[in-house]
Amino acid sequence: MRIIINRNADTPVYLQIKNQVRDMIFSGILPADTLLPPERSLAKELEVNRSTVIKAYQELKADSLVDSHVGKGTVVLSHTVKKTALPDSYINPLPWYQFFTDSINAGTDNIIGDIMAMTGDSGVISFAGGIPASNLYPVEILKTIQTELFTTANRELFLHSPVEGYYPLRESISHLLRQRQIAASPKDVVVLSGSQQGLDFAARIFIRTGDTVLVEEPTFFGAIQIFRSAGARVIGVPIDQEGMRTDVLEALLIRHKPKFIYTLPTFQNPSGVSMSLERRYQLLNLAYQYQLPILEDDPYGELYYDRPPYPPLKALDRHGYVIYLSTFSKTLFLGLRVGWVSGPPQVLAKFAHLKQLTDLHVNTPAQFLLDEFIRRGYYEKHITLVRQEYSARRDAMLKALEKYKVPGTKWDKPEGGYYIWCRLPDNIIRHKLVANAGNRGVVFLPGETFYPDGTQGDTRIRLNYTFTNQEQIQTGIKYLMQAVRETTSLDDNQESERNIKPLV
Ligand SMILES: Cc1ncc(COP(=O)(O)O)c(C=O)c1O
Repeated sequence: MRIIINRNADTPVYLQIKNQVRDMIFSGILPADTLLPPERSLAKELEVNRSTVIKAYQELKADSLVDSHVGKGTVVLSHTVKKTALPDSYINPLPWYQFFTDSINAGTDNIIGDIMAMTGDSGVISFAGGIPASNLYPVEILKTIQTELFTTANRELFLHSPVEGYYPLRESISHLLRQRQIAASPKDVVVLSGSQQGLDFAARIFIRTGDTVLVEEPTFFGAIQIFRSAGARVIGVPIDQEGMRTDVLEALLIRHKPKFIYTLPTFQNPSGVSMSLERRYQLLNLAYQYQLPILEDDPYGELYYDRPPYPPLKALDRHGYVIYLSTFSKTLFLGLRVGWVSGPPQVLAKFAHLKQLTDLHVNTPAQFLLDEFIRRGYYEKHITLVRQEYSARRDAMLKALEKYKVPGTKWDKPEGGYYIWCRLPDNIIRHKLVANAGNRGVVFLPGETFYPDGTQGDTRIRLNYTFTNQEQIQTGIKYLMQAVRETTSLDDNQESERNIKPLV
């Protein structure tokens, strides 16, 4: 029996209990003869006084909805629902939460959604999303290819495509993988609706309620939410400038016996850190030693601005332990919703099975379009273009941060990807910063979003530099740093560098 108490509501707590039990009786969730929880245990569960529950049960008894006898407890009575229509004033709003599963009820925090929603507002400078630069969308080329595709009226374009993906696109993706040093044939690729779907499928394939998943700390919040909603305990492994701390990892492997390790080794979201080559091998060796799958998420690997990154774990894995996810969302555009998974055949078969159960296949015209775009060499040219632009935007943000620096703020220069993981002064009043920056028209993502237990990271913020142009970056950082300054309890002249720990 799930009862939610709102201690700020005007309705007294005993009435909240009574009303919710009554609703459950009338909606059939508590059928006749159901034994209600003993007063003492319900009071304990709801953290209320026992007399509050007694009063709620007395009210239900007075309404002839329950009966109670000493030694027998409180039992739901059968009741005949009047067939005549109830007047509107008697119909309560449907208590939806009672129908939701526990896992879906667990994930209703929408702070990110709220902040992201502001991204579309005119006048708001958003460093919050992970969105590509809209002026670089290859609109004209896509338009030409699309017109050609639809003009030839190839019937295949309008049909279902194979569950695993349109074969020519799988071929094109396997070429891209070879450039990332991953030896994969088209059959080693299953096309998905973004890598988010890959995370969801991995959760459905591997996680049973109560299982543990190890993730970097901090990590992509979407993955934390997905694993958690599948019933996993999500445990963080700290990172430093070389990525996941493999020395700490081994102890956690022994202690938690996780189902798999989720990692973003290259230009990590949110920290921008890339795992060193040594750590990559250490991680693989630990996975081999403890017989553990690795789920590698690599949306940003192609977006390097200084020098090519180390090969993905998948390229270094000689024993088929790595499941590799990637996507076109960050290199092309988010709305495309095309990503893919590459991994051992037994695992890919499960991904394909879930793809069939979920939505059969990725949108056919999108797959044709993308395949032509890659085959005609436009993808490679586009990557070169976005690398140049994002590198310039990253440098603009680094310069602006330096120019408007508030003592105590720190950051590292990311060598690729989308984000600067900025440390704020220790004395920041973080909950006020979101509002203060918002008032100045600047949004960002708060650091705690990226930590599995949500208690750390409150002196960090994630700043995206790909979505805004250089002018907006300059203005946005200026306003953001004004807000930081205003939201710290020390002023400029006071030395606040004292307690600053190393970044990441
Ligand atoms: C690390 C990571 N994985 C997965 C995704 C989801 O990507 P997609 O749009 O392909 O579903 C994102 C998007 O922000 C991401 O940062």
